[in-house]
Amino acid sequence: MDVNVRRNGNLREYIRARIAVDDESLDPRTFARFASLLRGIREPVILDIGSGSSSMIAWIVKESSARKVTIYGIDSDKDLLDQARRESLDLLRSAGFAVRSGDQVVAGTKPERSVEIRFPPGDLFNRGLLDSLEGIAFDGITSRAFFDAVPRGPSLDLVGRLLAKGGFFYSTLNASGAVELVPFFEDRELEEAVLALDPGERGARPEGDRSGRALYDELTGMGFAVAGYGSSDWSVFPWNGAYGGDEEILVNALLLSLYEEGLAHASVDRFALAAWYAERSESVERGRLSLMAHRTDILAIKS
Ligand SMILES: C[S@@+](CC[C@H](N)C(=O)[O-])C[C@H]1O[C@@H](n2cnc3c(N)ncnc32)[C@H](O)[C@@H]1O
Repeated sequence: MDVNVRRNGNLREYIRARIAVDDESLDPRTFARFASLLRGIREPVILDIGSGSSSMIAWIVKESSARKVTIYGIDSDKDLLDQARRESLDLLRSAGFAVRSGDQVVAGTKPERSVEIRFPPGDLFNRGLLDSLEGIAFDGITSRAFFDAVPRGPSLDLVGRLLAKGGFFYSTLNASGAVELVPFFEDRELEEAVLALDPGERGARPEGDRSGRALYDELTGMGFAVAGYGSSDWSVFPWNGAYGGDEEILVNALLLSLYEEGLAHASVDRFALAAWYAERSESVERGRLSLMAHRTDILAIKS
């Protein structure tokens, strides 16, 4: 639902609100396999695409034990990239590294380890950025909650081009269809229709909300061997009537996305939709609405 959230100008708030839910939702086996591949590389050079909150970068730093790690974080949103740079600096500092930073880089050293994180500016499809990345044989490429926001085919082509032979691609939290809200809304038919709307159909989101499922076949079609696949479904329930952390912001952002999606479809009755949105928003305010959203993680090796 990222494109609609972006259009509403609250992308940063939404990304922040997702972090804890995303962290809890990961498929642990796919993650463990990714971590073990990462630890098996002597001096890994990793590219994280759509770094946003820098949460994937934090995982890479935490999970890698190599003497030297180099990470490239890219994001089309300059403010988010700046923020990712600042947060990476804090992360290294709090992990006991002696840190230094420049315009587009932060680095940390300890007697036995060094980590360098580069933040070259630009969109993934920016020619200049690609030229600068193409000379690097990446051992791994990662993405977290990225593939719903971009045209999948061209993005995967770039993954295939930038990744070294034998390198891994670890992509988490890819929207894979079903979103459920409980308890049921009075007019179940209306809610089912709203939940089933696929923005991809009208081109608002390049590939709709089902990118996670498609990645499996598309990667195998590109000659990758899938080494891990599992669900990272969001599960939000207001325990004792209260949402944890930023969950309320997250659920509200999703409701707004669905409402806006409904407005864009002539087949949906606007008055009924407005009543649905008002009722669902109120039930969030009262701590009554639960949400589940299907997401998938995939780990694949380039042959
Ligand atoms: C939903 S956010 C996820 C951010 C981060 N990976 C996380 O898990 O918190 C998607 C990110 O992809 C970035 N993005 C979208 N299109 C992009 C593109 N063409 N090139 C680079 N980054 C892009 C957005 O700016 C945003 O930060």
